[in-house]
Amino acid sequence: MATAVTQEVLGRMEPPPVNAAQAFDVERVRRDFPILHQQVHGKPLVYLDNAATSQKPLVVVDAERDFYLHDCANIHRGVHELSERATHKYEEVRRKVQHLLNAPDLHEIVFLRGTTEALNLVANTFGRRVLKPGDEVVITAMEHHSNIVPWQILRDEQGIVLKVAPINDAGELMWDEYQNLLGPRTRLVSVAHVSNVLGTINPLRRIVEAAHAQNIPVLVDGAQAAPHLPIDVQSIDCDFYTFSSHKIFGPTGVGALYGKTRWLEALPPYQGGGDMIRSVSFEKTIYNALPYKFEAGTPNIGATIGLGAAIDYVTALGYENMARHEHDLLSYGAERLLEIPGLRIIGTAREKASVISFVVAGIHPHDIGTILDHEGVAIRTGHHCAEPLMHRFNVPATARVSLAFYNTREEIDRLVAAVEKAKGLLG
Ligand code: ALA
Repeated sequence: MATAVTQEVLGRMEPPPVNAAQAFDVERVRRDFPILHQQVHGKPLVYLDNAATSQKPLVVVDAERDFYLHDCANIHRGVHELSERATHKYEEVRRKVQHLLNAPDLHEIVFLRGTTEALNLVANTFGRRVLKPGDEVVITAMEHHSNIVPWQILRDEQGIVLKVAPINDAGELMWDEYQNLLGPRTRLVSVAHVSNVLGTINPLRRIVEAAHAQNIPVLVDGAQAAPHLPIDVQSIDCDFYTFSSHKIFGPTGVGALYGKTRWLEALPPYQGGGDMIRSVSFEKTIYNALPYKFEAGTPNIGATIGLGAAIDYVTALGYENMARHEHDLLSYGAERLLEIPGLRIIGTAREKASVISFVVAGIHPHDIGTILDHEGVAIRTGHHCAEPLMHRFNVPATARVSLAFYNTREEIDRLVAAVEKAKGLLG
């Protein structure tokens, strides 16, 4: 039975449109993920920690394995058959990422270790080429540490100023305050597409429009968006966008940065080494063309090929289908959890992806997490690499349920029963 609070929370989550043509068969989808079919502490696993890392379908594991079994060689370097095959497979993935993000040019896709490295790349190169002491970078109160600390390093080393746009109690960006932060010294806005703690989906189009009206470029941390939302960097018109493979059902250790050509051309290299050069003498080095200028050293070739398989997988499943199923789980999960007396959801934005952070009065989130683990339910507890956000909501930590398209209503019921058990034991 939905309470008034539930109604308020649920009423503010807009369901995506129904595509009746394609029914979503969650049981069939779950068969693609062997890891889900195991027992933990004697109970069937319920994996609800997808924002930390999502599970990998067999096609992804097979793609990486196939590379090591048949094609393993370094890329861009050999004239031999294996190297050509590896290079071809690797570069094919760049094309897949280009299509996934709807980037205009292939050379605008840079492969890196993941979102963290991409944010550091922009901070480092933009910092060296553009930022002067007193220049301002605007972020928001809901950023992950990886979109805070690189700017603090620049603040401490180069004297830039870091400005933080506040959020309201629902976890939404406060629009007037954001706009008021943009000024003549603002050189960059760097913002999460989706908050890893609150699930808030930020209004990127508006954020970019307001920034561009003052010639301020925008960098987007898309780590938590790519597993849930279709991304179109041309329609968003952001200057940079980044995501990680391991959150979008691909392997760990690789991710991509999209950058507009004029920015990638203007910025200096991030790291020096092999493959990022055209020629080297002791007097002078000429850098390679885009995107290789930013790809020093041997990359994670196998994982990148796995990422290609993950992109094929989510594309075949369809974002609309995934979103409809996840929205159902999000509504159901919020409704069921709010039946538990003393439980409060942190993050009730109108536009929200499938993350539910909560606290239960009188019980530390770590204790909830430990009891849930013994019930076979995996969630994340703590500050979720977003400590300032915990201060904003005046909590030491939260318990966070993060859903994927392979989760089910039955798993939500197991979660709720486990939280009730924790409450019975500790509350
Ligand atoms: N950033 C990841 C999370 O939110 C690790 O859990």
